[in-house]
Amino acid sequence: MTSPINLSGRVAIVTGAGGGLGRAHALLLASRGAQVIVNDLGDAADAVVAEITLAGGKARAATCSVADADAVQAMVDAALAEFGRIDILVNNAGILRDKSFAKMDLADFQLVLNVHLMGAANCTRAVWNTMREQQYGRIVMTTSCSGLFGNFGQANYAAAKMGLVGLMQTLGIEGAKHDIRVNCLAPTGATRMMEGILPPEQLSKFKPELVSPAVLALVSEQAPNRAILSAGAGSFELVQLTMTQGIALGESATAEDILQQWNALSSRDQDFAPTQGFDQARHELHKGGFHFEA
Ligand SMILES: NC(=O)c1ccc[n+]([C@@H]2O[C@H](COP(=O)([O-])OP(=O)(O)OC[C@H]3O[C@@H](n4cnc5c(N)ncnc54)[C@H](O)[C@@H]3O)[C@@H](O)[C@H]2O)c1
Repeated sequence: MTSPINLSGRVAIVTGAGGGLGRAHALLLASRGAQVIVNDLGDAADAVVAEITLAGGKARAATCSVADADAVQAMVDAALAEFGRIDILVNNAGILRDKSFAKMDLADFQLVLNVHLMGAANCTRAVWNTMREQQYGRIVMTTSCSGLFGNFGQANYAAAKMGLVGLMQTLGIEGAKHDIRVNCLAPTGATRMMEGILPPEQLSKFKPELVSPAVLALVSEQAPNRAILSAGAGSFELVQLTMTQGIALGESATAEDILQQWNALSSRDQDFAPTQGFDQARHELHKGGFHFEA
């Protein structure tokens, strides 16, 4: 049996934690002993801090937009001054500006990128050196099925959410030697973001607090590194980016050959999940029958 996760002595920042999923994450981390910095806009974090305090936990509100790099740095500096360390960062804050791409304003596209992708980059950058010095850190990026698989009307959001997967993949590699582990969460939760998308009966199955155990697993000492964990309605899955074995057509390959052999090329028989970008080139050389000494 896995022993209970104890976050005593750990300091966590959860962004956008004044409501929805972030609130549920903050409550769970605090209940396991973490001191939690509850970030959100305006005074949204205050009620969550009060809830945590009432339950005997320790929390502090931090009001700022994750899209404002200077304000984020000030939030992190204040947390360091008070708590002396930052072990956990849950990048959760987010907004929607849904429209079909034909009608989408590029200013809204930029705004969504600024909050989700730059917001997570700002927060991560602000804690990164501290985590390196501590030789310990756990970071969660909140991605979405929308980015991973696409959703009508969410081009801006999907682009930002898949950007977070790329950020996670590379930071997981760069952080590994400092025991900084970076993972993605792909949640489904009945929050204001989901309003009107599912009928109420189905929506009621997606309680936000059913997602938070996935976050706790990803910020624990035993956390994996570079996983994309999906969670909703008490179900948990792993999303993997895989490559097919493909076909080696050689130097005379034409576009027509590619289209003609599409079925063979896309066969998932023996597909695999590369562990770093260079695996693609390695595979291509191997398929082509080229062997180089490392
Ligand atoms: N609910 C779902 O099913 C679902 C699915 C996939 C991904 N997500 C992601 O999960 C995260 C949480 O979403 P939610 O469903 O709880 O939505 P929500 O709207 O209930 O919560 C988002 C929170 O982020 C805060 N926020 C927005 N902009 C901010 C900013 N610039 N700085 C700081 N805080 C800001 C909001 O005030 C709000 O409290 C988001 O990143 C969202 O994209 C949610």
